[in-house]
Amino acid sequence: MKPFIYITRKLPQDAVEPLKQEYQVEMWEREDVPVPRDILLQKSQKASALLTMLSDKVNEELLEHADALRVVANLAVGYDNVDLEAAKQKGVVICNTPDVLTDTTADLTFALLMTAARRIVEADRYIKEGQWKSWSPLLLAGADVHHKTIGIVGMGNIGEAVARRAKGFDMEVLYHNRSRKPHAEEVLGAEYASLDELLGKSDFVVVLAPLTPETHGLFQKEQFQAMKKSAFFINAARGPIVDEEALTEALKTGEIAGAGLDVFVTEPIDPDHPLLSLDNVVTLPHIASSSTETRHAMMNLCVENIQAVLKGDKPKTRVE
Ligand code: GLV
Ligand code: GLV
Repeated sequence: MKPFIYITRKLPQDAVEPLKQEYQVEMWEREDVPVPRDILLQKSQKASALLTMLSDKVNEELLEHADALRVVANLAVGYDNVDLEAAKQKGVVICNTPDVLTDTTADLTFALLMTAARRIVEADRYIKEGQWKSWSPLLLAGADVHHKTIGIVGMGNIGEAVARRAKGFDMEVLYHNRSRKPHAEEVLGAEYASLDELLGKSDFVVVLAPLTPETHGLFQKEQFQAMKKSAFFINAARGPIVDEEALTEALKTGEIAGAGLDVFVTEPIDPDHPLLSLDNVVTLPHIASSSTETRHAMMNLCVENIQAVLKGDKPKTRVE
């Protein structure tokens, strides 16, 4: 019997074709909803490999009865949805999709920053709603980006790619990270700062850190108070790094000027969430790596990682 591979979301046929030649492949076929938990658990019990989304919890409950499972290829660079310790106990290899999405994610992060600063969404709505009656001197005046200070919290590959873009806009680059990044300092001229110092000095605070016990709830009332009143908060990492109630309050009271958010504590976010009623918030449905090219590259990398592990080879991008 061919090993069974379960893919938790509908992917294009050409992406999964290489797996079909050697394995029995099944995919959750509905496009409108993700795979229900009970079906995922049931499929996991006989799967040798899973190709998962960041919205699938790969935890003890799933791993417990997944006795044939050898590899989980997660279609994301982040893997906070995976219990690494439980996977290790079970001898399951976990793979993610770093590198292939770095520039695409940095592009969108910078776009979100520009969009928040220059009020692009508001301006688009202004025209389409028929409000544009005349040119006026301070019509939809936003904040400058060039020559300002950006503070990057989480200086991994994506953080560095955002820093490179910031340099192109003649920005000062500060960063905060668990460890110092000599490459970013020497090549990009980024300056290490404590979180407090970064918050106090930055015009744009950009979060690109992974979600870990250390970063969970890192941004509270106090952190927003430490920011400039003219500053923008950009999150392209994970929602739970931020206390959304504190962020909403900071935006409402003018503690900070605006926010650009690609991620939320609960995804999809409830359309009635108070954050969404604020004009100084720009939101995106977790699409930072979503260019057609990059999403295909991520799928291909997942497929290669699965093939490698099932053949007994070293996968390209294993989470250690
Ligand atoms: C997206 O959020 C990812 O982790 O790739
Ligand atoms: C703007 O379009 C200007 O001409 O100043």
